[in-house]
Amino acid sequence: MRRAVPAGLHFFARGVLIAALVVVQASARTSGELESGQAFDERQSLGPGDVKEGYESADYRTRSLSLLERRGVKMDLIRLAERPPLGLPPVPVPADNPLTRAKIELGRKLFFDRRLSINDTLSCAACHIPEQGFTNNELRTPVGVEGRAVLRNSPTLYNVAYQEHLFFDGRELSLENQVWQPITAHNEMAAPAIGYVMRKIRRMRDYDGMFEEAFDGRGPDILTIGQALASYQRTLLAADSPFDRWYFGGQPDAVGTSVKRGFALFSGKAQCIVCHRVEADHALFVDHQFHNTGLGYAESVSGSEPETTRVQLAPGVFTEISRATVDAVTQQRLPNDLGLYRVTESPGDRWKFRTQTLRNIALTAPYMHNGAFDTLREVIDFYDRGGVPNELLSPLIRPLGLTEEEKQDLEALLHALTGSNVPDLVADAFAAPIGDLSAEDPNWANENTLGY
Ligand code: HEC
Ligand code: HEC
Repeated sequence: MRRAVPAGLHFFARGVLIAALVVVQASARTSGELESGQAFDERQSLGPGDVKEGYESADYRTRSLSLLERRGVKMDLIRLAERPPLGLPPVPVPADNPLTRAKIELGRKLFFDRRLSINDTLSCAACHIPEQGFTNNELRTPVGVEGRAVLRNSPTLYNVAYQEHLFFDGRELSLENQVWQPITAHNEMAAPAIGYVMRKIRRMRDYDGMFEEAFDGRGPDILTIGQALASYQRTLLAADSPFDRWYFGGQPDAVGTSVKRGFALFSGKAQCIVCHRVEADHALFVDHQFHNTGLGYAESVSGSEPETTRVQLAPGVFTEISRATVDAVTQQRLPNDLGLYRVTESPGDRWKFRTQTLRNIALTAPYMHNGAFDTLREVIDFYDRGGVPNELLSPLIRPLGLTEEEKQDLEALLHALTGSNVPDLVADAFAAPIGDLSAEDPNWANENTLGY
């Protein structure tokens, strides 16, 4: 791991963040009724984060305002997939896994279910966080169970349905198969085997009948778990951005002049469009190819790392933590990231990474396969410098000579790519159960109940 921070810091950071939110919100309203209908007053003392007092009781209710205010509103996701928002092409769906409401519902439940990890703590949504663009804004590289280091940045899952290759090195080809990597990776959800996950789900009473209904009587297994999770992820379609309304929707006022100048640069002088493609009637901002921008090279050859690493505690609040502290709690050092070479073992593919989409890019910091850049401005400066020279640098990456105003225009364009339906997808995610252990389902993950 290069820049991940230990889990303790992660949770500390979240605690500070939630405390800050509670202070801000609680000072605005000290008593009354929450929109959820629940009464509250000062004496109820809304605490930082999820106050655990009384947690063991079956009628426990959180007193964290930030959690109470997370209101979920379920969406009809299959309709979204049948008619994707403006700017997206039809969703490719494999012939052997047609989308159905039952599969999407089941996949959504699995996606947010923390019990899929070995110690019931980490769901897919722990690293692909809905309110953070289905990625993780707080960490350059996320942490798995027990704070284990992960090599790469969490990519967004918005519009992942259209990817021809999955992962930064393209090593996986279908969403159906992809899910088993995070579930069984030792440093992610750490389930010891596929059979273990199947058995665990079969014993969860709240899944009774769901697989059978979605899959013609077939229960949870290697195929159905993958097909359900893939179905949910295919519906995470976010577009109809100001750019789409202007460029595809013919609304001249949907964006300002800076965005229009930005697009002229994007498709002209700056040549971004060669890799981040825009078609006549839709745009995915990808070319389904792999390129060497020099970033991976720079990381591989920079033998000595900085003495300290920057950690974000709350939005806009940063602190420097010594590298030694981070290393002391880091389980192992991860290998250099050679990108596509890891899949092809062809020397010319060293440090090539898959082109990332630019849709919803304002929501998905930090950027690049290793989260090297915190802001879009840093990314633009990087391209303007011509990446990092190396013997395998893509010929398409070269110094651009952008002026300050041109950089601002490009940045304005990138900010105009956020889908208008993002809040609906986030609200839908908030409506999903998260696999909390409940009184009805007492400590089901216990070895005895698992039958070992
Ligand atoms: C510990 C954090 C973590 C967890 C938990 C996690 N992911 Fe990921 N996910 C990542 C990272 C990091 C990558 C990029 C890895 C790479 O490129 O090698 C990724 C990549 C992906 C991709 C590929 C996206 C793309 O654009 O190529 C998909 C799809 C995905 N994850 C879905 C899931 C699902 C489904 C789950 C739950 C079963 C899950 N993830 C759990 C961190 C996580
Ligand atoms: C040679 C092809 C190519 C060109 C030209 C190119 N990009 Fe990229 N872009 C990529 C690749 C490949 C990645 C992923 C790199 C990585 O993860 O290390 C990427 C990543 C990005 C990201 C970060 C995406 C994320 O989710 O982390 C942004 C933002 C971006 N490019 C913007 C631009 C802009 C703006 C331009 C024009 C100035 C541009 N790109 C030109 C190939 C290209």
